[in-house]
Amino acid sequence: MSTIKDSKLASVGKDEVNWAQRQMQVLEDIKLDFEKRKPLDGLNIGACMHVTKETANLMLTLQSAGANVALCASNPLSTKDSVAAYLADSGVAVHAIHGVSNEDFFKHLNSVLDTKPDITMDDGADLVSLLHTDRADLPVMGSMEETTTGVIRLKSMEKNNKLRFPVVAVNDSDTKHLFDNRFGTGQSAMDGVVRATDLLIAGLNVVVIGFGDCGKGVAERAYGMGAKVTVVEPNSVRALEALMHGYEVKSSVNAAKIADVIVSVTGNMHALDKQHFDVMKDGVALANAGHFDVEINLKALKEYSSSVERVRDHVDSYKYNDKEILVLAEGRLVNLAAATGHPASVMDMSFANQALAAEWIKDNYKTLEPKVYTLPKEVDLKIAATKLGLMGGELEVLTEEQIKYLDSWEHGTS
Ligand SMILES: NC(=O)c1ccc[n+]([C@@H]2O[C@H](COP(=O)([O-])OP(=O)(O)OC[C@H]3O[C@@H](n4cnc5c(N)ncnc54)[C@H](O)[C@@H]3O)[C@@H](O)[C@H]2O)c1
Repeated sequence: MSTIKDSKLASVGKDEVNWAQRQMQVLEDIKLDFEKRKPLDGLNIGACMHVTKETANLMLTLQSAGANVALCASNPLSTKDSVAAYLADSGVAVHAIHGVSNEDFFKHLNSVLDTKPDITMDDGADLVSLLHTDRADLPVMGSMEETTTGVIRLKSMEKNNKLRFPVVAVNDSDTKHLFDNRFGTGQSAMDGVVRATDLLIAGLNVVVIGFGDCGKGVAERAYGMGAKVTVVEPNSVRALEALMHGYEVKSSVNAAKIADVIVSVTGNMHALDKQHFDVMKDGVALANAGHFDVEINLKALKEYSSSVERVRDHVDSYKYNDKEILVLAEGRLVNLAAATGHPASVMDMSFANQALAAEWIKDNYKTLEPKVYTLPKEVDLKIAATKLGLMGGELEVLTEEQIKYLDSWEHGTS
């Protein structure tokens, strides 16, 4: 049984999922292989992911491996009801409705856990959290984690000896974070800002808070659209890297003074708070592309604003003293709430990692410890080589002589 908005949306969802699939050939190859081998036959897989057309292709890949799949949303605003309807029609147990209340959101997480999953998959560690609190009675082989924020939570659990089963940090595969976080978040976060506001980015002061993988991508895309980019970053190496890229590097308060648009991607709470609201310009637009809706302190913004009004889809206008502060997508992931998330081509690699991680856990869970693992390097290299070929790139092949030279220590200045 599924909990979805409207089963009649399935045919629209099917077209969307098929459209994404055209760009997901690495995952498609895995699906064809899974169909033959059925490596997950009879296993229950429970996933908490953004319910998008790309995720649908991953769910169908796991299903083709013989798994029974249940899915709930990892964010109430990213669910595409048409995709949920199509997946439900295809035999996946889906518990996701766009814009559900917090209470229903957690009910849906629990519905997935009610299927007693052997393996779980998270985007933000919400299922794993429940599996260590309210549902700690459920046995699982292991889990996979999609995003940086989830991996940070899991590593903290491992450090404090709280983790009770192995987890694969899919985010930490190079073919995930170097591409999905950078190119995926970069493009789709700016897409979300533009769709929500219709602003011309050229000539604006765009401030990017956090210069990690995602922040680098957002800064690059904003710069490419003609923005004057300023970066805020507490890590000195990353801050210097931003400076040498040609961006301004400022403290958060000084950056807030000049910003026309601010995109926060820190994975941290209150990157934007009262001291920043106080100095912002009239009409500034604030967006968050970090995982949770904690980066903009909306509670403080509301408390000190005289009114809040929805002025168009995805844009709330706060009257703050004598100025207007615009908040996009309620401070939730702007790329998923105001746009359609990462392009399928980049999710192809992230989800190829997820699919292979499920099989890796099934094959290895008996010998794994309750720790955070990354997939073996060969998996990364294989996924990258396949994607490179699909995108028309050619890989250089070293000669035996060159391989030997790189392996040796005897050679120096001749
Ligand atoms: N929008 C999406 O679709 C999407 C995709 C992937 C990851 N994410 C999320 O985006 C966030 C960032 O991910 P990442 O992979 O770039 O992480 P990262 O760890 O590589 O980078 C985060 C950066 O933010 C900096 N930072 C921390 N607190 C800060 C603060 N208060 N002010 C300024 N900078 C601060 C850190 O020093 C670090 O350089 C995470 O929450 C992650 O889960 C979102």
